[in-house]
Amino acid sequence: MPRSPIKRPPASLDLSKVLRHVDDLPEKLSSESLFGNNAPLEIEIGSGKGLFITTASADNPKHNFLGVEIMAKYAAHSAGRLLRSRRDAPESTPNAMMVSGNAEPLLKDRIKENSIEAVHVYFPDPWWKKRHRKRRVINEASIRNISKVLRLGGRFHFWTDVLDYFENTVEMIAELTPEFGVPIPEEEAAADHDLDYRTHFERRSRQHQIPVYRVRYERH
Ligand SMILES: C[S@@+](CC[C@H](N)C(=O)[O-])C[C@H]1O[C@@H](n2cnc3c(N)ncnc32)[C@H](O)[C@@H]1O
Repeated sequence: MPRSPIKRPPASLDLSKVLRHVDDLPEKLSSESLFGNNAPLEIEIGSGKGLFITTASADNPKHNFLGVEIMAKYAAHSAGRLLRSRRDAPESTPNAMMVSGNAEPLLKDRIKENSIEAVHVYFPDPWWKKRHRKRRVINEASIRNISKVLRLGGRFHFWTDVLDYFENTVEMIAELTPEFGVPIPEEEAAADHDLDYRTHFERRSRQHQIPVYRVRYERH
């Protein structure tokens, strides 16, 4: 399914508190270096239009959230959404920030071991062709890196509407990172009305009645 067109937020919007380019980040990423406090840090890989990070950071004000999005236009759009959601408290310290750039090198080298509260990956690009599989955000290297950065008890959430991606991920985790323990199925939020979705791709799946496979792991 093609993605719908997206607008950059207007230039008049000051995104400096909620959007950083990967090259402008501190060398080591932590709540301390990014937000100036020690709150638990959650990371979302591939934030798309930023719905998850906006609602999750509002629902969990005692946690910090870092959204990483490789497409600059989407990173800016998500940052604009974050900023607009804080319209009532513009002076408060934000607990969420978007990073424009590739999540892979950040996970590999820039995050302290055993430090992250949760990693969220929702509806990653499927890369259907077998020869393109290595481009998937979830692959052997990233699974090992996610396991490395999660604290004990930290969570990895993975949702996709691609059964093959789901099965492959569950198999890789069982083989490579037994410290993740057993996969815990995650339930779909009750869909009382059309707005009960966590990400835009979840909404699309629901509208087109496409099944979604959801799992959570807790690091042992
Ligand atoms: C299919 S979209 C899903 C967006 C959102 N999670 C949702 O559910 O609506 C996948 C997103 O991951 C981003 N992405 C792909 N590879 C990435 C990477 N290596 N680092 C950060 N973002 C990435 C894409 O640009 C895209 O916005």
